[in-house]
Amino acid sequence: MLASPPGRPAIFFLSLAFLLRFWDRESKDMSPVHGDHASQNRNTRTQETVVFEIVEDSDFLTLLDRPRPVSVEKKRSFDERSFSELSNIGSPCRRSSFLGSPRLNYESHPVVSDAWETLRRSVVHFRGQPVGTLAAVDHSVEELNYDQVFVRDFVPSALAFLMNGEEEIVKNFLLKTLRLQSLEKIVDRFKLGEGVMPASFKVLHDPVRNFETITADFGESAIGRVAPVDSGFWWIILLRAYTKSTGDTSVSEMPECQNGIRLILDLCLSEGFDTFPTLLCADGCCMIDRRMGVYGYPIEIQALFFMALRCALVLLKQDNCGKEFVKRITDRLHALSYHMRSYFWLDLKQLNDIYRYKTEEYSHTAVNKFNVMPDSLPDWVFDFMPSRGGYFIGNVSPARMDFRWFCLGNCVAILSSLATPEQASAIMDLIESRWEELVGEMPLKICYPAFESHEWRIVTGCDPKNTRWSYHNGGSWPVLLWLLTAACIKTGRPQIARRAIELAENRLSKDGWPEYYDGKLGRFMGKQARKYQTWSIAGYLVAKMMLEDPSHLGMIALEEDEQMKPLVKRSASWTS
Ligand code: GLC
Repeated sequence: MLASPPGRPAIFFLSLAFLLRFWDRESKDMSPVHGDHASQNRNTRTQETVVFEIVEDSDFLTLLDRPRPVSVEKKRSFDERSFSELSNIGSPCRRSSFLGSPRLNYESHPVVSDAWETLRRSVVHFRGQPVGTLAAVDHSVEELNYDQVFVRDFVPSALAFLMNGEEEIVKNFLLKTLRLQSLEKIVDRFKLGEGVMPASFKVLHDPVRNFETITADFGESAIGRVAPVDSGFWWIILLRAYTKSTGDTSVSEMPECQNGIRLILDLCLSEGFDTFPTLLCADGCCMIDRRMGVYGYPIEIQALFFMALRCALVLLKQDNCGKEFVKRITDRLHALSYHMRSYFWLDLKQLNDIYRYKTEEYSHTAVNKFNVMPDSLPDWVFDFMPSRGGYFIGNVSPARMDFRWFCLGNCVAILSSLATPEQASAIMDLIESRWEELVGEMPLKICYPAFESHEWRIVTGCDPKNTRWSYHNGGSWPVLLWLLTAACIKTGRPQIARRAIELAENRLSKDGWPEYYDGKLGRFMGKQARKYQTWSIAGYLVAKMMLEDPSHLGMIALEEDEQMKPLVKRSASWTS
């Protein structure tokens, strides 16, 4: 028998240390890099189902400066300031620096302090650092995927934190999700595009190794194999909001971030057979992530697409790669704004024109460009359309229009200035005159109207959550309050937001911050709604903070671009 050499235990520990270091280095190497190197750094753990692991990320974070000290702006009331003054586009402005606790003037408000407390309970940490918020913290029902950090759900949380001077969690989130984007994404042996951002991610704790990892979902498990088209857009929009609000350009200027933006855009700007300047999308690829008439060219995605393109223009450096993208973005923005403002826009005049359309026209001079059959106009739209007002309809495609109202798309159209100033005020006019239908007793309807009788079964694939006036089928979602408030401030109508916030305030906290409400007026707590739904809480806080200090609007709104002013005016409600 060989005698144990004296140095054996030491060698054993040295080898163990080497192995651990090697494993650690392998994982560290996962940071996104440019061009060809990117593929070497992708990580696929399994072929059939995708589980991605992020093992070490602190390298990204240490590259960045700590937040710099900031000065607190003197507040003026909203009416004293114009939007351009509020948004100060182009020059990022630092905001107030209340770290870790809500601003003093909010503490006395019981609903606000309840909201902050509940929001903080949803914060997710990864290796000691805050990286996001859970979709909901409701232990009374099955968690399903609500225990994950959703990209879209985190946006209102991020805005609340930014408005409160808490930047770290937002920076960490942006960098963590960027890491996830750089991984190889395989669903059923099919490789998704490089730029795809996850729908959500989850931090897993291994109690044996006492080690944390992150798994991401690109739509392959949580939401019926629909890759989220909106995640990449929200990521770009949030990156601009972070940069604008903190004045910290070091994150967006990182080569990894610049590359991340380009990868997202590459997916959306690529040319194919499609002649539409809008973006062709899969069913249920956004907030309405189920079959619910979200197909083809949904307004929700087109508006986010437009906003993300405009944010990317601000964020992209004009180096060699950047220049080419700037050209592609500008061209697309022109085509997209023309298309949306002309074909998606509906007001009384336009409705009347469609009602009298000739069909089967053949020639370049055709008026009925999409060959819409007047008989396909639904009855409700004639009652719904006020004399003053208008909106962007749900979807446009040959002979097939979805005339429904969608809240998120219309609000984002206002915020991004996809809507001309006249269209933006027409949308606000519509909300005012159709208050009962769109706001009712709980802001706001995700879409209007609901599909009734058997129609919902056909359109939703029989998802029982989508019975009429529930969930995605005409349910009322408190999260939309922040979008409405931002749109109200941008159009100079803060009193509309005030009314809506008062309605929500009376019930939200008492009801335990539900995910959605049901019924024509939103009087009932959603049949299957989660409680303590984080974006209901954060949406309320953002709305409150924006009304209190409208200069916050600048981080989430863009002024009209002179170059995109419409040359052709099509309809009465957007001529001045
Ligand atoms: C539902 C919503 C989706 C949201 C998710 C988590 O699936 O449709 O928009 O991201 O819940 O809250």
